[in-house]
Amino acid sequence: MSETTKGVTVLYSAEVIAARVRARGQDIARAHEGGELVLLSVLKGSFIFAADLSRAIPQPLRIDFLGLSSYGGKTETSGVVKITQDLSRPIEGAHVLVVEDIIDTGLTMDYLLENLKTRKPASVKVCSLLEKPSRAVRKVPIDHVGFVIPDKFVVGYGLDYDEQYRNLPFIGVLDPSAARAP
Ligand code: PRP
Repeated sequence: MSETTKGVTVLYSAEVIAARVRARGQDIARAHEGGELVLLSVLKGSFIFAADLSRAIPQPLRIDFLGLSSYGGKTETSGVVKITQDLSRPIEGAHVLVVEDIIDTGLTMDYLLENLKTRKPASVKVCSLLEKPSRAVRKVPIDHVGFVIPDKFVVGYGLDYDEQYRNLPFIGVLDPSAARAP
């Protein structure tokens, strides 16, 4: 592993991520059995992954965004999930693929899946770029996963610490002392 940004050590390079995203796009296309496909990108963290994943799925689809927030600037989940921006169109009858950057405790996805059920989609599947099983407190179904990661605080490729680092083209581990800096 090399140090390319102060306090952040590369875990997955841009090239490694791109190859994994292409593979997951192919898997999703193969698994989709027809009908309207809606990629539901959970903001803000999944915006870069969703943009790349959408271009790796070689079939018609619609994309929508749902703003959810649970961390409020800290590295630990608060367990409180808040909708900060709702979908632009109904998803009734559609095949929904929820696109997340990370499933950590599972509290956010657990809340979201319950919420989506009330909107009567034809089906709901989940694609998460990262999964951190060691921190799971709710078991949530994940249909497609990019990388299973250890219990480290990761940033980049959409993931933040206090709204910083989302624009890094790679995923890296944030040094805890950098995380404490103002
Ligand atoms: C992150 C991430 C997931 C959630 C996962 O979002 O994007 O939505 O936390 O954590 P959990 O499994 O412990 O619930 P965050 O609230 O940090 O907002 P963001 O996407 O705007 O960065």
